[in-house]
Amino acid sequence: MKSFKKVVIVIFLIFILSLTACSGTSFTNNKGKKEITASKGEKQMSTISYADFYKDKYRPQFHFTPLKNWMNDPNGMVYYKGEYHLFYQHYPYDIKWGAMHWGHAVSKDLIHWEYLPIALWPDDNGFIFSGSAVVDWNDTSGFFKGGSGLVAIFTQAAAKQTQSIAYSTDDGRTWTMYKGNPVLVDETAKDFRDPRVFWYKPGGYWVMVLAVGDHVRFYTSSNLKEWEFASEFGKQDGSHEGVWECPDLFELPVEGTNGQSKWVLIVSIGDNPMAPEGSRTQYFIGHFDGKRFINDNPKETVLWLDYGRDNYAGVTWSDIPEKQKRRIFIGWMSNWKYAGRTPTTSWRGAMTFPRELKLFKDEDGRIYLAQQPVRELSKLRDKRLANLKKVLIGSEKATLPVASGDLLEIIAEFELGTAEEFGIKVRKSDSQETIVGYDAIQKKLFIDRSRSGDIVDETFPVKHYAPLKTRNNKIRLHILVDRSSVEIFANDGKVVMTDLIFPDIDSQNVELFSKDGTVKVTSLTIYKLRSIYEKYYSAEELLISEK
Ligand code: FRU
Repeated sequence: MKSFKKVVIVIFLIFILSLTACSGTSFTNNKGKKEITASKGEKQMSTISYADFYKDKYRPQFHFTPLKNWMNDPNGMVYYKGEYHLFYQHYPYDIKWGAMHWGHAVSKDLIHWEYLPIALWPDDNGFIFSGSAVVDWNDTSGFFKGGSGLVAIFTQAAAKQTQSIAYSTDDGRTWTMYKGNPVLVDETAKDFRDPRVFWYKPGGYWVMVLAVGDHVRFYTSSNLKEWEFASEFGKQDGSHEGVWECPDLFELPVEGTNGQSKWVLIVSIGDNPMAPEGSRTQYFIGHFDGKRFINDNPKETVLWLDYGRDNYAGVTWSDIPEKQKRRIFIGWMSNWKYAGRTPTTSWRGAMTFPRELKLFKDEDGRIYLAQQPVRELSKLRDKRLANLKKVLIGSEKATLPVASGDLLEIIAEFELGTAEEFGIKVRKSDSQETIVGYDAIQKKLFIDRSRSGDIVDETFPVKHYAPLKTRNNKIRLHILVDRSSVEIFANDGKVVMTDLIFPDIDSQNVELFSKDGTVKVTSLTIYKLRSIYEKYYSAEELLISEK
């Protein structure tokens, strides 16, 4: 978190606390129109229609975005009674970061989202910063009269950062702040935030992982209200280019082994003005014994979750039924380096496409994280725009136009030939292109967004790389293209790159290319993807009322 945020926190806290009327929301249906009251008090109606979403030059058509105004980190993701809840850092009054609330949406398929009223509002304890939510199945908290319900655990930011809880007895529709907040304080720590809580089954207690400046701390609890310090990890491990934020911790089986499993600790690191990459996310592989995390790798090893520039503060859904065997991740598709300056108008901030996480053992014998778009993606497939096999590029012509579109799923396999560089250009016109390529000399995947469209920041127009090994002299790419993003899952998600781009609406060509030699495209399939707003297009309007 940047220091300017702290100044803003203090100013806005005074402002918010003076708005005594501003403490609730309502959500009604009126002849097919949904009304969202963003705050209590005098109403001022404005209308948003999905048709506007559909026509918006930059609004993603199959990635989650806020209805209106600012969004950053995903928060409190929990699966309960058939719904995936997604809360998010939200400032409901402007497209800038400000006094943080938890915005809220639910989905049954991780693709189509229903906007719900704001879940958590700032109060005397401060703004509502990032955190998690759990299902308290056995009513350990005593909030649910012996039944089950949702508990959110989050940071409240005022002069100090403290941890608070809130609960919902109506499936997340309304929330009550616990009267005993805050539940965890620290007199000395300046950065003390983003609690991730989960039920540690072998011990029969709750574990909280918290980011504390340059390390994470583990706390345990029997009731979510009283927390006891257990241990800390990381002062000397991994990357310390920025402040540690938004941790997550979970156990996953290692693919292809006989029942072996490992613990994954995800830690995001904030922007460092000296590093062109800005904010990004690392992870550790190791063992968690209920109190301590033991890193499997040497301290200096840094494992990046995503080699792109725009996947930050990502965490995973809690309480997905064990029999589904799925660990699903979503990240904020932006970067603190320029998040406040992206060229959108009524909204700002998008989430990555939801990804399923898996562990695999690589040729070096070590264990790494792989990510793939969730399989529900196939619901969005529309026409097949291209289907090629065994095409040689570069012998006669260096490029081959193959399709056109702004919402695309591209699945390609290349066999290396003599070309030094090859790949696929998307969102292309005469003056713009985003290049997804492979540097065959350096054995590196890259995205080149230097001519991708609007430039947000001097660090934005770059060609940047990720190490990617060939297998049988081949590489595989799975690419998702939306109005303002490109996500690459290379070699079955072993290497991932996520980047924002801001092209013109009519930059839509897709072209294969090969530089200084040949490459064989062993297979290429391109699907046009449907907009999630298509079904609402011209049918429904959203009415927003605000102060
Ligand atoms: C990460 C972060 C968190 C904090 C939140 C504030 O992007 O800085 O550490 O809780 O954003 O909006």
